[in-house]
Amino acid sequence: MMQATARARANIALAKYWGKSDITLNLPAVPSLSLTLDPLTTTTSVTFSPDFDKDSLTINDQVCDATSTLRTTALLDRVRKNAGITLRARVASTNSFPTASGLASSASGFAALACAASSAAGLSLGHPELSALARASSASAARSIYPGFVTLEAGAVGEATLHAESLFGADHWNVCMVIAVTSEGEKDVGSTSGMETSRLTSPYYEAWLLNAPRFYREVREGVGARDIERVGNAMEQSTFAMHACAMASSPSISYLRPATLLALEVVRRLRREKSLGVYATMDAGPHVKALCHVNDAATVEEALRQTEGVLRVIRAIPGLGVELLP
Ligand code: PMV
Repeated sequence: MMQATARARANIALAKYWGKSDITLNLPAVPSLSLTLDPLTTTTSVTFSPDFDKDSLTINDQVCDATSTLRTTALLDRVRKNAGITLRARVASTNSFPTASGLASSASGFAALACAASSAAGLSLGHPELSALARASSASAARSIYPGFVTLEAGAVGEATLHAESLFGADHWNVCMVIAVTSEGEKDVGSTSGMETSRLTSPYYEAWLLNAPRFYREVREGVGARDIERVGNAMEQSTFAMHACAMASSPSISYLRPATLLALEVVRRLRREKSLGVYATMDAGPHVKALCHVNDAATVEEALRQTEGVLRVIRAIPGLGVELLP
């Protein structure tokens, strides 16, 4: 039986990736640094069989149409080529959190898929190879292969083997990511098209490329020193620069909603009025993710829960890398 099941966790970038240096190979134009998070998991089973005439995909038991299965098939094709097989596959994936809404489901999804598919095909890949395989589908997925604090350097054109690297394990620092979920629906503009529109049309794209490595270095040094203020300030600058770049595109891309702005204000107020070390980040979706020390998480969680338009709050902590399940 050519079958395997893997679990991976979402990751949230503290220093953002936005923009590609090589579209064909899906290489990031800037370095990024992320935190892999529990309990945001994707569990994916892959079965290759001569009984299947095409690849099929279900996410949370919903059958996906041919278009949304394309990216899965592209990863499976790379695995099939590597393993020397032609069998089609059935892929069943379950997320423990909203899909395709800016909560990094593509990161955990493609990390779990890379691990399950390669194992089902009989390949035994190490973490760097798994990370490169996942990265070719979704650059952020390269980071979900590893636990805790993870880096992904910018890729040079043609650098097909680029993979993420572990910076520190999950137990390096007692921080929390408190996630204010502001919508359960799918986002309008996916990250791939959002960053391409930014690259092609935003007058701030060059400025973003120039400055993102500096935010990355600052976050990296701050994480090493477990300095929440240093990490937080650079993290906020990274996210606001990314969103400003996207917003200035034509047509404008805005992931921020009224509830996003209210939640951002709550984070600022907690800093100003309660002197809490809490800082915000957002991805290609309307949710606000607040980074703070574990001791402050309950206060941050409560304040965000009471914010208008916040549907629910998830408290996430540094999590494990990808795992093959028995
Ligand atoms: O890898 P993708 O296509 O899911 O893009 C991720 C982009 C951001 O989430 C906005 C930033 C990041 O570094 O995760």
